[in-house]
Amino acid sequence: MIALEPSLKNRPEFINVRVRRQDGPGQEPYWQLFKIKYEPELNVISVLQRIAALSRTSDGNKVAPVAWDCGCLEEVCGSCTMLINGRVRQSCSALVDRLLEVNPDELLLEPMSKFPVVRDLIVDRKRLFRGLQRVKAWVPVDSYYNMGPGERQLRATQEQNYPLSQCMSCGCCLDACPQYNKIELKKKEGESAEEFAKREQAEFDQAFVGPHAISQAMLFNNHPTGKALASERLDALTGPGGIQACGNAQNCVAVCPKEIPLTTSIARAGRAATVHTLKTWFEK
Ligand code: SF4
Ligand code: SF4
Ligand code: FES
Repeated sequence: MIALEPSLKNRPEFINVRVRRQDGPGQEPYWQLFKIKYEPELNVISVLQRIAALSRTSDGNKVAPVAWDCGCLEEVCGSCTMLINGRVRQSCSALVDRLLEVNPDELLLEPMSKFPVVRDLIVDRKRLFRGLQRVKAWVPVDSYYNMGPGERQLRATQEQNYPLSQCMSCGCCLDACPQYNKIELKKKEGESAEEFAKREQAEFDQAFVGPHAISQAMLFNNHPTGKALASERLDALTGPGGIQACGNAQNCVAVCPKEIPLTTSIARAGRAATVHTLKTWFEK
C-alpha cells in the first residue's frame, strides 16, 4: 500500500471558490460561491476552467461563466494577475494545494484593486502601459536597417540590468503600492471616444507613474543605446507624478513575482533625478 504524504491526507472532496464578480465597467460587484471537485496539483487557472465548464454556483444556479485573462500559463505575460486569498499574484503559478494548506475552507478570487474592472477578474491595465510610455521605456531606433552590433556592455552592467529586464508588466507592484491610487473615469454625456481617451490620459499623466516604470527608466538609462533618452526619462521622473510621489513604503518590492530590486531602482532614480534637477537648474 502506498502511504500518502501527510500534506495530501486531509485533502477535501470539494473546493469552495468565492469569486468577486462584476458584469461590466462601473457596475456593482457581487460575490458568488462555486464548488468544484478536488483534484491534486491544480492551479488557479485550472480551477477557473472547471468553474467555466460548470457555470453553476454552489447552490445549483446557472450563471454566466466567470471571465478571466491569461496568456503564457508560465508566469511570463502577467495577464492572469489577480488577488488570490487577498494577495496579488499570477493565477497560473498559484498552486491550489499550497493555498489550501493556508486556508482549507475556500479560495477567494478578486480582480486587482487599482485598475478598472472590465468584467469579473479582467481589469484594464492601460495606465500601467501609459506609465512605460511616460518614461520612454524602450531603446530608440531611427530605422530598421542593419546597424551592426551594438556597443559591448560590461559584465557588471549586464548583471545590474538583467534582473530589471525580467519585468512582465503584471502590475503586482502597483496594486500593492499605497501611492498608486485607482483612476476610473466615466464618459461624459456627448463626449467622443477620442475626447474621453485624451481626458483619461491627461489624468494618468498627473498621477504617480509607478515603481515598474521607474525601474524600467533605470534599465534603459543604463543601456548603451537606451541612454540616448536618459534626460527625457529623468524629465518625466522629476515631473508631475514622478519619483517624488513614492512614499518609500517598500510594498512593491515585497510582492514583485520576479523579485526585481524595485527599491534599489527607486533609490538610483532618486539620485539621478537630483543630479538632473541641479544640472537643468545650472543650465538655465
Ligand atoms: S516604495 Fe514607493 S513605489 Fe514602492 S510601494 Fe512604496 S510608495 Fe509605492
Ligand atoms: S516590477 Fe515586478 S511586480 Fe511590477 S510590473 Fe514588473 S514584474 Fe510585475
Ligand atoms: S498566464 Fe502569463 S503570467 Fe499567468
